[in-house]
Amino acid sequence: MKILENYKVELEKDLSEAVSLPFSSYTSEEIYQEELEKVFFDDWVFACHEKEITNKGDYRTIQIGSESVIVMRENDNDICALSNNCRHRGTKLLDSERSHTKKIICPYHNWSYDLSGSLKGAPFSGNVKIDKSSHCLPKYKVEVFFGLVFVNITGNAEPLQQRLGSIAKYFEVFDTKRFKYATETEFEKWKCNWKLAFENGIESYHLFAVHKVTLEQQTPTSKAFYIEGGSEWTLTGGEIKDSKKGLTRLFTGDKYDHLYNYILISLPPSFIGILTYDSLSWLQVLPDGVDSINISSCAITESKAKTPKAITEFTKIFFKEDQDICEKMQISMNSKFAKGGKLVEMEKILVDFRHYLATRIFKSNVSPHFISDKSKIFLG
Ligand code: FES
Ligand SMILES: [Fe+2]
Repeated sequence: MKILENYKVELEKDLSEAVSLPFSSYTSEEIYQEELEKVFFDDWVFACHEKEITNKGDYRTIQIGSESVIVMRENDNDICALSNNCRHRGTKLLDSERSHTKKIICPYHNWSYDLSGSLKGAPFSGNVKIDKSSHCLPKYKVEVFFGLVFVNITGNAEPLQQRLGSIAKYFEVFDTKRFKYATETEFEKWKCNWKLAFENGIESYHLFAVHKVTLEQQTPTSKAFYIEGGSEWTLTGGEIKDSKKGLTRLFTGDKYDHLYNYILISLPPSFIGILTYDSLSWLQVLPDGVDSINISSCAITESKAKTPKAITEFTKIFFKEDQDICEKMQISMNSKFAKGGKLVEMEKILVDFRHYLATRIFKSNVSPHFISDKSKIFLG
């Protein structure tokens, strides 16, 4: 069977029959190219949080496979997404991943652009007349959902609100509008296929093994549960041990039960969030070749206070635990003779992610959205 046909069959399976994906799915250039075109270019890709770029001229750059994109705060109200390649001979314009600028100047021959991508200057052009209006940086579609900024390169994706609308009630329960301050963004490069990192980020099955002395101590595997989801997005959750909100619970009974739980938000292909009463933190997964990713992390919180050193250290340690396991997996994926096996119940979220891929790449019909009883913890 051809590699793509085989891939489709595996992606469409439900939990009862799902086994680990063919290992070639994580190493095949053919599949990777298909995913770039039909997932990363055609769909909404998480770019940053609007609080990472609060002032005019603040920007983030993201690399989505072959495409480098500037996400720019062009004025107080608007954010635009621009091609990060010069309209003269294509040089990459901005190198920093998160920074600030007054205008965009190409390092090669200093053509300059304003924050909206309009060409403003082309030095020493001699007698050649350059029509500035036809040399703007290409703009991509941008939409913002609860402060999360998404970019769609081809412009083919359906409105974001339509896609994510029903997650809003969960954000409202946690009153995420309180979160106004973004922490520093951390950037790393991992040597693995983007799906390995995404799958690892969304499933809670590995906490007790990979994060035995870190995450498992606070958010144990045994207390994780499925909330609701399908091929568009999935929410899972779990209990937070020794929650600081214990006192609140004492005074309010069960009314604030959601305060002792976290929600893990999977918005494929690039956003994995963790929502608690104290913060919304996230990972951004972006492919950079078939076996390489750029991964970044950031959070928004209610107070401007710096993240305590202990928390930064803790995050670094479990992040490294995830990196090690993902890179180890990538090496195994090269095997021609090894065999994968069944997914367990806690891995239902991986099936949702596969169904996402199946609908995007193959336009498959997959099983409908599912809501579990655990949603009542948050929605009553
Ligand atoms: S390539 Fe940008 S100014 Fe020449
Ligand atoms: Fe992990």
